[in-house]
Amino acid sequence: MPESDPQDPVSARYPNSARIWNYHLGGKDNFEIDREAAEAANAMAREIGTPAGPEAAREGRHLLQRMVDFMAGQGIRQFLDLGSGFPNMANTHQIAHRADPGARVIYVDLDPVVTIHQTALMAGPNVSTLNADLRDPDQILADKRVREQFDFDQPVGIIFVCMLHCLRDKEDPWGIVRQFRDAVVPGSYLAISHLINEGDHRKAADALFEMSQNWSAPLISRSREDVARFFDGFALVDPGLVAPAQWRPDLHNPLRVSAAGNNESQPVVGNVPVERLTVVGSVESHLCGVGKKVG
Ligand SMILES: C[S@@+](CC[C@H](N)C(=O)[O-])C[C@H]1O[C@@H](n2cnc3c(N)ncnc32)[C@H](O)[C@@H]1O
Repeated sequence: MPESDPQDPVSARYPNSARIWNYHLGGKDNFEIDREAAEAANAMAREIGTPAGPEAAREGRHLLQRMVDFMAGQGIRQFLDLGSGFPNMANTHQIAHRADPGARVIYVDLDPVVTIHQTALMAGPNVSTLNADLRDPDQILADKRVREQFDFDQPVGIIFVCMLHCLRDKEDPWGIVRQFRDAVVPGSYLAISHLINEGDHRKAADALFEMSQNWSAPLISRSREDVARFFDGFALVDPGLVAPAQWRPDLHNPLRVSAAGNNESQPVVGNVPVERLTVVGSVESHLCGVGKKVG
């Protein structure tokens, strides 16, 4: 990862993974350097015939809705969204508060510009935003706002959607997940979506890795076994580890169902409009799952 430069706090000199994701989702919080990197990756993916960034990003946000809605349905009322990204379509607190306005949500992101946007648009009753590096779980878990907001005697929903593949093996992402796991009580949940390097995606995974070497964070696709290892100490709920479209597709995307029940989009927080997803089922470049911490 490029060194952070105090003269360049916005890190506009190299492509930034939060802004690239925002661009894929149709947002405006990105620069030319991000758009060029995103388009190069998309051109590569389309040439290989594998899903490009916009499809993966949109499907990831729809998946997040279903995962949070599922966990809320299991009684989870505290959510730690790690590497949460710019405010966007269907943010975690909107889903959680639909189930219970008293649910508490903490958004964590390394990027200071992301956190500024999150604080301006999403912070409020029961919602905190934290500018922190999740590679230091102790610092996050000891943060005053986290201790005040969460009751660690109650279960927590830990969310790493499209995030763990930004960490290199040598940074021990499994150890990081383990530290968050050890901080929460049995009955807590872990939700993950992660790039895979198998099957049709092997070639694209290698190319993405090479292309992302000068981004703020790399894209490191992993095997099914490596993704499964994140769930050590958790029992995967049905349907296990699957492509995003196969993860409980029967659940509604809550923010897409209007009060009138006519399936119109709801207003959302952030600069990205909710659009109809026309490509559901096409993204098999990721594996995702939800696990429940065993006692
Ligand atoms: C690909 S985006 C995913 C955003 C969101 N989870 C989603 O699925 O839409 C990855 C996010 O992780 C953040 N990130 C990368 N490395 C991080 C770190 N070490 N600690 C905290 N956040 C990090 C980036 O700033 C970015 O916002």
